[in-house]
Amino acid sequence: MTGKLVVVSNRIPTGATPSGGLVVAVHDALTRSGGLWVGAHPDEGTPDQDGLTEIASGDYTRLAFHLTPEEYDSYYLGFANSVLWPLCHGRVDLVDIERGFEETYLAVNARVARLLADQIGEGDIVWVHDYHFLPLASELRKLGITARIGFFLHIPFPPLGALSTLPSPDDFAEWLSAYDLVGLQTRRDTASCLEMFRADPRAEFMTDGSVKFRDRSVSVRSFPIGIDAESFAEAAAVEGPDAELGIDMHEDLVIGVDRLDYSKGLPNRFRAFGKFLDSRAGTGRRASLLQIAPPTRERVAAYRAIRTELEEIAGRLNGEHAELDWTPIRYIHRGVERDTLARLHRRARACLVTSLADGMNLVAKEYVAAQDPEDPGVLILSRFAGAAEDMTEALLVNPYDIDETSEAIETAITMPLEERRRRHAHSLGVVHATNVTDWAQSFVSCLKTCTPTLDYRRAQTGRTLQHDGETA
Ligand code: ADP
Ligand code: G6P
Repeated sequence: MTGKLVVVSNRIPTGATPSGGLVVAVHDALTRSGGLWVGAHPDEGTPDQDGLTEIASGDYTRLAFHLTPEEYDSYYLGFANSVLWPLCHGRVDLVDIERGFEETYLAVNARVARLLADQIGEGDIVWVHDYHFLPLASELRKLGITARIGFFLHIPFPPLGALSTLPSPDDFAEWLSAYDLVGLQTRRDTASCLEMFRADPRAEFMTDGSVKFRDRSVSVRSFPIGIDAESFAEAAAVEGPDAELGIDMHEDLVIGVDRLDYSKGLPNRFRAFGKFLDSRAGTGRRASLLQIAPPTRERVAAYRAIRTELEEIAGRLNGEHAELDWTPIRYIHRGVERDTLARLHRRARACLVTSLADGMNLVAKEYVAAQDPEDPGVLILSRFAGAAEDMTEALLVNPYDIDETSEAIETAITMPLEERRRRHAHSLGVVHATNVTDWAQSFVSCLKTCTPTLDYRRAQTGRTLQHDGETA
């Protein structure tokens, strides 16, 4: 197979500082491999804009489709981010099903499939990313596309029970079965996905581990996503005056970097930091939390609510603890340039990742990559982040337990050098073993070699297949 790699995702980089694991990782991967990336245009479209427009291309080509305001509301803010996102992040209470969401979601997938079909050439392989495009392969198959199509879910796979919240729960398995390969972040996600197929009478398991679903077969595997650790470490090590970063070296800096999403456990993090400040009162050395949290999906009510809650907690804690020359919680509600981010990470004594649910969490890996191995800071990591499956030497916490998280901050800041080095070396090993290039290459090579789907083989050989994968 010598064709190009065609990547599809809703979010696509447009020049501004990207925040969000998908864009950061796929941009790094495509910069190395080259290919085509199709995603949503940042500007609203008009009904007559039904084609693909080339935007800010560089090492690879970027083509964008326009979403009309109605599509943006019902497909992006609606079905993707008010139904699927909370569902996959264990917040069924926030699922908001409105009439028209699913219909528009399916219509956008069908339209993008039509636009994409014209771009797929002989030997190309297609890699679809994330929950915005679950039905894309099934729409492409309807158009007669027989190319290999893989899907990677960047967020947690929903537990079986939660799928019943969907308007048409049976569609989920149907959508995934149109792919040749489904990639997930962790072994736990893979187990959840296989559990879904196991519970579905339409699915059967083959001896090679793939799932036969009607006349198709799909392989399911985990591919833990990573970062470009070398370049992040290089950016982190750039020397410059600390004042430029607004850091006072006489205080212990704890850092948090997240989109302002309810899945990141930010109120719990602030409360834990408040408890830690209480426990430190009167001991002399100051510690401050720098929280960088750019806005995201602000037209969804749950995101506006989390912002209000966080501002209220930060205001109260600063009111209680601040002094004339010191603000313990610095909260920046916008994106920061990646190089600056890397330098800030390197100077922080600890990083707080307190996700209540998270596919992987790249910030955890970036923090580890940015450290000076001779004098590293400590990663405090929620056990609910996918990264915790392998980064077992981070200080693992239950973010629902405010006391435990607060104690972990104290433990991190006072940890002896030898223990910091030992824990960091282990985490850095994980970061290097799962770097973004290997992640992309292993997914793509698995997609190229996984068992061809049953109906292709039938088409090629004219014979039917038995369930053990042998032709009859
Ligand atoms: P998610 O994909 O849910 O947003 P991740 O932690 O996996 O969470 O990925 C977030 C990515 O976005 C990281 O690469 C991180 O550095 C970047 N990012 C998050 N916040 C900011 C910010 N304020 N400025 C710049 N980059 C950010
Ligand atoms: C997560 C999702 C991505 C999404 C990103 C930013 O990383 O997995 O699909 O792009 O968040 O969210 P946004 O809604 O701004 O694209």
